[in-house]
This record gives sequence, C-alpha cells and structure tokens, in this order.
Amino acid sequence: MNAERGAMIGSEKWIVACGVEDIEVGEVVSIEHEGRALAVYRVSEDIFYSTDDICSHGYAHLSQGFFEDCTIECPLHGGQFDIRTGKGLCEPITTDIQTYQVRIRNAHVEIALGALLPDHQFTG
Ligand code: FES
Repeated sequence: MNAERGAMIGSEKWIVACGVEDIEVGEVVSIEHEGRALAVYRVSEDIFYSTDDICSHGYAHLSQGFFEDCTIECPLHGGQFDIRTGKGLCEPITTDIQTYQVRIRNAHVEIALGALLPDHQFTG
C-alpha cells in the first residue's frame, strides 16, 4: 500500500495510510510514505496502532513478524515490541521503536507523522 495523500492539521502532518477495511482484526500491514516504512496494526474493530515497520535491532520488517494482542515479534531474531508504546520487551532489543498517533477519518486510517505520543490509540 502507498499513502500519497497528506494534510497539515495544526503542527501535525496526517497521512492516509489505508482504508479501515484493508486491515482485518489481528492483522498488521506495511505502508511506505516518502521512503519511510510504517506498520499499521488493527487490534479490534475500532482500535488501531502504528509504529515504525523496521526493527530497531536490524533490518527486518516487523509487519512480516508475528502479531498477537499488542505485541509484534520480529521475524528475524524474535525480538518483541509493545505496539502501544514501542517499548522493546526482550532480548536482543535494546532500543525502542517509534509509535505514531492514529485516527479514523472517512473510513480511512490516518497516521500523524512527527507525533510521538504516549497514548496514540484510536477508540472510535
Ligand atoms: S532484526 Fe529484529 S530482533 Fe534482530
């Protein structure tokens, strides 16, 4: 998927990542925006999260890993992250990943680039 559209709202730049129906509950997808790889996760019908898609330990796409509840496991060495906070949960992870604010607009998932917020889930 490719998110080409962007909009400046306040100081945040919101980009359209994908349609809500493009992600099944329990699924993670990867999008590219201006050379940046982002992962978008759907935890439930109306709860989404977004993180960097590239692992902080090496070059691997987290979106190709194992996603369960709010944890993503890297497909390369098995490092795990909490997708709500970006926090590394086990070895070999030593650096957290960035998370992004997510909202739903017009049946699309939008991500705020540059926004690093402690609570970035969208709940309706
Ligand atoms: S590249 Fe992800 S755990 Fe090593």
